[in-house]
Amino acid sequence: MAWVSAYIVFISLISSFFLNPVQCQCKNPPVIFNFGDSNSDTGGLVSGLGYPINLPNGRTFFRRSTGRFSDGRLILDFLCQSVNTRFLSPYLDSVGSSFLNGANFAIAGSRLLPKYEPFALNIQVMQFLHFKSRSIELVSAGSRNLVGDEGFRNALFMIDIGQNDLAGSFARNLSYTEIVKMIPSFVTEIKNAIQVMYSQGGRKFWVHNTGPLGCLPQKLALVQKVSSDLDPHGCLANYNSAAKLFNEGLRHLLQDLRSEMKDATIVYVDIYAIKYDLIANSSNYGFSNPLMACCGYGEPPYNYRKGVTCGQHDYQVCNEGSEFISWDGVHYTEAANRVIASKILSMEYSAPRIGFDFFCH
Ligand SMILES: *[C@@H]1O[C@H](CO)[C@@H](O)[C@H](O)[C@H]1NC(C)=O
Ligand SMILES: *[C@@H]1O[C@H](CO)[C@@H](O)[C@H](O)[C@H]1NC(C)=O
Repeated sequence: MAWVSAYIVFISLISSFFLNPVQCQCKNPPVIFNFGDSNSDTGGLVSGLGYPINLPNGRTFFRRSTGRFSDGRLILDFLCQSVNTRFLSPYLDSVGSSFLNGANFAIAGSRLLPKYEPFALNIQVMQFLHFKSRSIELVSAGSRNLVGDEGFRNALFMIDIGQNDLAGSFARNLSYTEIVKMIPSFVTEIKNAIQVMYSQGGRKFWVHNTGPLGCLPQKLALVQKVSSDLDPHGCLANYNSAAKLFNEGLRHLLQDLRSEMKDATIVYVDIYAIKYDLIANSSNYGFSNPLMACCGYGEPPYNYRKGVTCGQHDYQVCNEGSEFISWDGVHYTEAANRVIASKILSMEYSAPRIGFDFFCH
C-alpha cells in the first residue's frame, strides 16, 4: 500500500510538473486587469450580450461552457494559474463574480477601431475607469470585496488585441496596401490605452502581439486563394505579413513608451513566433493537422464551414484527446494554449526578458 501511494504521489508530482506550465512560489499574486478580444475572453461576450456559447466549448477542462471560445483554458487562464491566482471574472458578469484578484474586460470580437463601438479597447478602458472609481468609493465606505487604491497602483495591465482589426479589414476586401496604411492607427489605440492606465498610476504592462492570422483554418477555408498565396507552411502569406507589420509597429510603440515612462515595466510578448513555431513544427509538440479545426464542419484540410461553426447546429467535433491546435477554426485548443503559455513563461519570447512571476510581490 505504501508503495502504491508513494507511486501515486510520484505520478501526480510528475504530471503536475508537466501539466502545469510552471510551479511557482508566488505568494502575493498581482491584481490583474486584462483587455482584449476572444483570445482572452473568459465569459465577457456571454455576460454582455447573452450570446450563447454552447458545449462542446469547455468540454475538456471545465466540463461545461464558460463563455470561453475553446475546449478548455485560455492562455490567460494558464498565466493566472502560474502565479496562483484565480481565473479572472469578466467585468460584465453580474452573478457570482469576485473582483478581488482583478477583472477581465476582454470581449470576443473586440477591435481597436472604431473607437466608440462596443467593445473596442477604448471602451474597455473607459469601463475600467468606471470600475476603478466605483471600487475605490466602495472600499473607502468599508467594502472588503474589491480592490483598493493600492491594489490598482500595483496592478498588472495585460493587453491582447488587434486580430479582429486585421481580420475585419481583409473581410471588407480592402487591399493589402490599404490595410498596411491602417496599421499605425490601430497601434495608436494601444498607445492611448497604456497612456491612460499610466496616468491612472499603472506601472506594469504585459502586451501580447497578434498571432499568425493567415494560419487560421477559418481564413484558409473562406478566402479565395491560389497556391502562390500560401507560405511554405500552408498559411495565407499576406494575412501573416499584415500581422507581422502590426507586430513591428507594436514593438516599436512599446520601445518608445519604455523611454517615455521610465518608471514603468512594459513587456512585449511575441505570440506570433510562438504560434507559428507550433504550427510549423506541430509534430514536435505532439500535434497533427495544424491547419484543421477540431470542431467545425466539412472535411480536411480545414474542417471549417461558414454557418456550421462549433457549438451551433450540425457541427462535428474531433475525439477528446486528439491533438488539434485549432479548436473551432479561429481559436486554439486547451492543449495548444498550454504549450503557448509554457513558452510565454520561458521568457524566451519576451522583451525585455521578464518572467510573469516578476509581478508577484
Ligand atoms: C469581397 O469579395 C468577395 C469575392 O470577390 C465577395 O464574394 C464578397 O462579397 C466581398 N465582400 C465584401 C464585404 O465586399
Ligand atoms: C521549427 O523548429 C526548428 C528547430 O527547432 C526551428 O529552427 C525553426 O525556427 C522552427 N520553425 C518556426 C517557424 O518557428
